Amino acid sequence: GDSVGFVGWRGMVGSVLMQRMQEEGDFEHVTPVFFSTSSAGRPAPGFAGDAGTLQDAHDLEALAKLPIIVTAQGGDYTKDVHGRLRAAGWDGLWIDAASTLRMNDDAIIVLDPVNRDVIDQGLARGVKDFVGGNCTVSCLLMGLGGLFRNDLVEWATSMTYQAASGGGARHMREVLQQFGALHGVVADELADPASAILDIDRKVLDAQRGDELDTSMFGAPLSGSLIPWIDADLGNGQSREEWKAAAETNKILGRTDQYAQDWVPMDGLCVRIATMRSHSQALTVKLREDLPVEEIERIIDGDNEWATVVPNTKEDSMRDLTPVATSGTLTIPVGRIRKLSMGPGYISAFTIGDQLLWGAAEPLRRMLRIATG
Ligand code: HSE
Repeated sequence: GDSVGFVGWRGMVGSVLMQRMQEEGDFEHVTPVFFSTSSAGRPAPGFAGDAGTLQDAHDLEALAKLPIIVTAQGGDYTKDVHGRLRAAGWDGLWIDAASTLRMNDDAIIVLDPVNRDVIDQGLARGVKDFVGGNCTVSCLLMGLGGLFRNDLVEWATSMTYQAASGGGARHMREVLQQFGALHGVVADELADPASAILDIDRKVLDAQRGDELDTSMFGAPLSGSLIPWIDADLGNGQSREEWKAAAETNKILGRTDQYAQDWVPMDGLCVRIATMRSHSQALTVKLREDLPVEEIERIIDGDNEWATVVPNTKEDSMRDLTPVATSGTLTIPVGRIRKLSMGPGYISAFTIGDQLLWGAAEPLRRMLRIATG
């Protein structure tokens, strides 16, 4: 198979990618060359057969020998290496998890169950940079792709409940450390059923507001609270994470002109909560047609094999429509679908996706399979 260079395969997204590639037998289709920013010369990992030694991830000549490079090393690496490789004439395929190149005109955001047509057209006209989308956007489109692809969405808002993993591995640890520290502050009182709940509450709040709690990753206490801001402040009241919703959704769908008829306005608020690795989103969608709920459910459920409608009942929602039910699976549950009282064509929906699978590793894995045949 094609030689493929892997950079950043040991980090959190990279590890999930490696695991998925093993599960799907992808290494049978490629000859992997593993790179490292720190351990060049050491043995390559054994999970993909004998892959020799680790190459230096900053060695442009070694990189340039490969027809395909897959990186989950992060945006700083992409900024540092991608431009210099291209300037040196390298014209291989660059498949990247970082956001750095995402909005470039000559890059395609990959989410093949939703935009295989855009990917194929790109490959045919010589596009070489293929980038995974923002996790929230990818999970949303995997869930509601049927409505978007059938051009049924006039506009949508997404109010998010985003997991710690979106920040990184250390953010996940921080959430658990905070939960543990807060529990520790009131462990004695909790063991005594007669203790006063308002005392417990005050102690927890004091701990959350005090200096003892480690908030170095998130910059504010998250466990037992939330943070209604994700990513940079764009200075217009919007966060970068919120800006991505419209920009990336439309780009994935192959719509690039925000003044054109087919552009779908998308906006909302992005909120960090103390969950581990699945991002949830509460949606308000204005449909172009006032379709019956059963029809909407049929379109969503039938669009791809991972979007799965959860019946809008309390029991089903509590069992199947949670981050706990979704994490570690490729299923994208879509529930709470109902007509809203605002008027004809207004519906609600709630959807969840594993931020490390469909939100990061899986679209890259699938793009590599498309590229290697
Ligand atoms: N920006 C996302 C988050 C990460 O912070 O949750 C993945 O795109």
